[in-house]
Amino acid sequence: MQKTSNSQAPGGLFSDSRWEEIRARFPTLERRTYLNSCAYGAISTDVAKALRQYVNDRVEKGSDWDYWVQKNESVRGAVAQLLGADPDEIAITSSASAGINSVASALNFDGPRKKVVISDFEFPTNGQIWYAQEMRGAKVVRVAANDGYIPVENFEQAIDEETLIVAVTHVCYRNGAKLDIPAIAELARRNGALMLMDGYQGLGTIAIDAASSGADFIVGGMVKYLLGTAGIGFLYARGELIPDLTPTVTGWFAQADINAMDATRYDPAPTARRFEAGAPPVPNSYAAEAGLSIIREIGLPAIEARIGELTDAVRDAAREAGYSIATPADPAHHGPMVAIRAHDDAALVAKLGEAGIVTSCRGGNLRVALHFYNNASDIESLFTALKRNEDLLV
Ligand SMILES: Cc1ncc(COP(=O)(O)O)c(C=O)c1O
Repeated sequence: MQKTSNSQAPGGLFSDSRWEEIRARFPTLERRTYLNSCAYGAISTDVAKALRQYVNDRVEKGSDWDYWVQKNESVRGAVAQLLGADPDEIAITSSASAGINSVASALNFDGPRKKVVISDFEFPTNGQIWYAQEMRGAKVVRVAANDGYIPVENFEQAIDEETLIVAVTHVCYRNGAKLDIPAIAELARRNGALMLMDGYQGLGTIAIDAASSGADFIVGGMVKYLLGTAGIGFLYARGELIPDLTPTVTGWFAQADINAMDATRYDPAPTARRFEAGAPPVPNSYAAEAGLSIIREIGLPAIEARIGELTDAVRDAAREAGYSIATPADPAHHGPMVAIRAHDDAALVAKLGEAGIVTSCRGGNLRVALHFYNNASDIESLFTALKRNEDLLV
């Protein structure tokens, strides 16, 4: 489906024409109405070029290990910049799951602190990994949501002196609800517990400063709003904690000296690199570097403002049409997604797909995920198609 540009597009901090110029770097958007950044960010010409560059480098250089390791270091630096952290506080991993697993493997559940507090909003991986720790003595407690949101008070009852770690998502992958991480982290800190934030559904859309978030660990990855590709993630670990955490999930890239090639001992790196494992995801680091550089070029204040305008527009249109919205109404309580309840969410996604509209669904909700490259014309196309499929909506 050919898309038309719309001069009524929300502006964020830039003019409409500047946003349209940026949008033109995402060729999928000329072909489809793309509202699925919560699953997979749209590919830019920059990222496509970087992936081609990887192939060219292989052809030209044969094997250039030092250069590839430098690429990995460049991504580490860019993630550190994104989070206002030190590169020594960043591990580059193959997934967010790998980062959570590595942290979990460094924890000891034999002492008086056995409790792991998660929430009803977790992406499955952040539940499954912690439940797996029950085999090592952990006791997982899940904090319930009230009507689509989890206020901090719900965490107050769960976090206590027996809590070892609080591991919660920032933005819920099902309904876009955004938790108050600094307040939850403060509760964890007051009770002497660690705090891990799964930032995957928010990073790239919201400015996050690691230190002021209060989180001890932040995990994320590059395939969604950070505009890179699948197969590469990261872990931030607060610097002071690193020397006291020794992962038992490890590998040669986690050692103090990668070149030591010593198979007779375990000598973890003094930095967050100790949370890594095997060889870095080299092709993916080319894509990640290019994706992160777009985010840096546009800047998170402009991105956040733009997404705020787009999510407001979707919420207003859904409300006007009388649809049931699963996302909290308060803009401070949601991220870049607006979720609309459906009777048959999978059938609705398929119908929208036939109309050239790319969305996804989870837990009975149609997920409408907005990034800075979306515009008013995308929203109009979505609501025109929803009107034709109202029988599938709640
Ligand atoms: C909030 C959240 N956490 C974790 C993940 C999984 O990340 P990975 O596959 O890199 O482990 C996802 C993926 O959709 C997610 O949305």
